[in-house]
Amino acid sequence: MASAVESPILHALSSAVIEADASDGILTQPATIVVPGWVFRLRGRSARFEHFITGEETMRAMGVSLVVSFGLTAAVTVSAVEPGQPSKTSIWTATLRAIGAKNPDPELRNPDDFASKLLGPQERTILNDFPMDALDLDFQAALKRIPSPAMVTTLVARTRYIDATMDQALHQGARQIIILGAGFDSRAYRFTERLAGIPVFEVDYGPTQEYKKRRVIDALGTLPRNVRYVPMDFAKDDLVSQLQSAGYSPTARSFFVWEGVTRYIPESAVRSTLRFVARHSGVDSTIVFDYVLSTNGAINNPKTQFAQWGEPFVFGFPGDTARQLVQQEALEVVSDVADAQLLASYARHADGSTSLPWSATWPVQRYCVARVPVGRAR
Ligand SMILES: C[S@@+](CC[C@H](N)C(=O)[O-])C[C@H]1O[C@@H](n2cnc3c(N)ncnc32)[C@H](O)[C@@H]1O
Repeated sequence: MASAVESPILHALSSAVIEADASDGILTQPATIVVPGWVFRLRGRSARFEHFITGEETMRAMGVSLVVSFGLTAAVTVSAVEPGQPSKTSIWTATLRAIGAKNPDPELRNPDDFASKLLGPQERTILNDFPMDALDLDFQAALKRIPSPAMVTTLVARTRYIDATMDQALHQGARQIIILGAGFDSRAYRFTERLAGIPVFEVDYGPTQEYKKRRVIDALGTLPRNVRYVPMDFAKDDLVSQLQSAGYSPTARSFFVWEGVTRYIPESAVRSTLRFVARHSGVDSTIVFDYVLSTNGAINNPKTQFAQWGEPFVFGFPGDTARQLVQQEALEVVSDVADAQLLASYARHADGSTSLPWSATWPVQRYCVARVPVGRAR
């Protein structure tokens, strides 16, 4: 796996100066790496060292001065989000949904009318390099205020499609909902009647959940009784034990939502999560997820906004679809479509017109629905 800072460092490491202070694999102070022609600023866990730093010996031999209290050599994983802080990309996606929910055109409005309630002053401050004041503007003014307004459209299609897929799964008998990398997902709070008596497990980093729980309490006065918050790191923790200790049933027919997550976690974590669904959920359980292909230019690109937020894209599915990898993890593909197809269905009127911004760069992401096959081997 390449990291966001790996390649240029490898090219110029012999003359690099690295100063950092770290504890337990986490940089305790922002650090700077200076390589001729490059300056990298590192914070928290936002960069990986394991590929280019293999120990003090190597570093000295390469003429690098590195001040770290070690642990870094063993494994500084890309766990992206800064310790104690909520995921910035989760605030960003909720913001795009909140803006999409302002659309005066009801047919193409983002149905997430709860998103704005999850974005309080603290969340706005955390994303202080994004024009969060767009949330105070009307729809057209907000679109003009933000970079990449077409992302609002992507999120309209994504929200509507996943809402519809969840509705279908419930209709077909799903008895529990698991939202992986839930961030500020609001389905548990928007579909309270539909989900009455159905446990909803929201899985994400603990700090993101803590911020979200405060906002949910502000909005509803209490946390819904059917929602279980399961703090975990996909790259490190065991989904089986974390979910089961929260009351998850491995035999019930389940519906998993994995929205906007697979690109931020390593291939091993993508595979182990799919394997978890294949082995530890009831027959006919389904999962919906969106993904990018391995050719996506944002992967391991330090210039993207995501990398600058400390949440770089690190994984794309090999080939043209998710099919091969999904099948290797013992799931059956139900559908696998490009976003262009969903945009046509969910972000346009029947006559082809739209009130949403359009982009020349689509397709960018794809959507896969996979299911646990009947007669699967555990
Ligand atoms: C772009 S946000 C998407 C959030 C939400 N699903 C949505 O669509 O708005 C990515 C989410 O994945 C979570 N995430 C990323 N890597 C993770 C990991 N290793 N373990 C747990 N959660 C992770 C982040 O905390 C964040 O909430």
